[in-house]
Amino acid sequence: MQHRGAWKNRWTFMLATAGSAIGLGNIWKLPYMIGVNGGSAFVLVFIACIFFVGIPLMMTEIMLGRRAQKNPFNAMQQLALEANASTYWKYLGAAGMLAGVLILGFYSVIGGWVLSYIAVSTQGTFHNISATQSAQNFEALLNSPITLIFWHSLFMVMTMSVVARGVSAGLEKANNILIPALFAILLILLGYSMSVGDMHAAYQFMFTFDFTKITPVAVLSALGHAFFSLSLGMGAVMVYGSYLQRNVSIAKTTIYIAIADTMLGLLVGLAIYSLVFANHLAPNAGPGLIFQTLPIAFGHMPGGSFIAVLFFTLVAFAAWTSAISLVEPTIAWVVENTQVKRTHATLVLGIAIWLLGIAVSLSFSTWKTVTIIFGLGIFDTLDKLTSTIMLPLGGLMMAIFSGYVMKKNHLQDELNLKRKAYQIWTVTNNYVAPIAIFAVFIYLLGLVS
Ligand code: PFF
Repeated sequence: MQHRGAWKNRWTFMLATAGSAIGLGNIWKLPYMIGVNGGSAFVLVFIACIFFVGIPLMMTEIMLGRRAQKNPFNAMQQLALEANASTYWKYLGAAGMLAGVLILGFYSVIGGWVLSYIAVSTQGTFHNISATQSAQNFEALLNSPITLIFWHSLFMVMTMSVVARGVSAGLEKANNILIPALFAILLILLGYSMSVGDMHAAYQFMFTFDFTKITPVAVLSALGHAFFSLSLGMGAVMVYGSYLQRNVSIAKTTIYIAIADTMLGLLVGLAIYSLVFANHLAPNAGPGLIFQTLPIAFGHMPGGSFIAVLFFTLVAFAAWTSAISLVEPTIAWVVENTQVKRTHATLVLGIAIWLLGIAVSLSFSTWKTVTIIFGLGIFDTLDKLTSTIMLPLGGLMMAIFSGYVMKKNHLQDELNLKRKAYQIWTVTNNYVAPIAIFAVFIYLLGLVS
């Protein structure tokens, strides 16, 4: 076995895991999902999912990784052996690695959109832009596979070159620089939105809770998004946990990370919606919200071009630190089981994902009519398959494994919780989270059949 990396301290672990969690999910997906799912009702359900399902399962996933100190595949195998259970559990680790690869296949294409928008913003293109022009620009990008592939390739190179360097020189260093930079840019943006945007309208839209607006679909998407947003259910957090020292409190660190992730998503949402409402734009634009709607707002505001560059840089940093965590489980698996060098493994996996991303890039134009499952195109298939099925299912299995397969003394030993906290974790991990995920699956089956 080749040398395994380790985080220098608790702080670098927190930055890296927050880096994994904070990504396109917070800045691109959450704001548009809030818009599409009726605003505050969705926010409320999302927060509930983070607290009752996300936090306990993040603790579980970190705990599994740290106990085994191995990649997700070998970790599950070893923990199953330790619990005298079937080693088939290792396939849970394998499924997670696959999910990471599938996610990066589309994630890196959206990362590419973001890079292209940084380039476009620097040219002052948004100045006084009309709604139609902005929509046309976005359409033009989607309809130009060559441009999409170019930016997707650049994003893949950025991602893989960090992963190739390993835990300390790559992952740790990138996160140590990018995450503080990301928070600094966020603060500037928020200050800007407060001064020129309509914070009041944004606040009302997101936080005046109206329970009657909660729909089953909103609950379904909120739960799936809680998993996606916290990077749960696929081994990313598990492998990060496997590089963590024994003396760090899992509960405390998890709570900080989950709060940072959720707060950041909500603050970005406020910043975006206050600009959207100040410019009388519609909040429910869907995936085009930050690419189509926001530029109109930027184009009509003082210093808008500069702010646009800052904003898209923020999104790019966030996407980058998440993307590296999507491939780390698989790379760790190769490095720990074969003689293949990390750099070589990264190159081969990078090429495979790059090819997948090319298919995704084509799915917006040339391959628009190609459908994979349930009449969904390539991009939607990857997105829905991973965030509504694979991640919650992975989370469910991890909850079942820790709650019903592992030995209690091993759990306590690793989680190291006081009595009350342990009880709360047990109830949420063993009952609340599995029942919630199960209920959502039953509902999904009903929708499909
Ligand atoms: N949490 C990331 C985001 O919100 O953009 C996406 C993600 C990264 C999901 C890593 C899953 C994962 F393992």
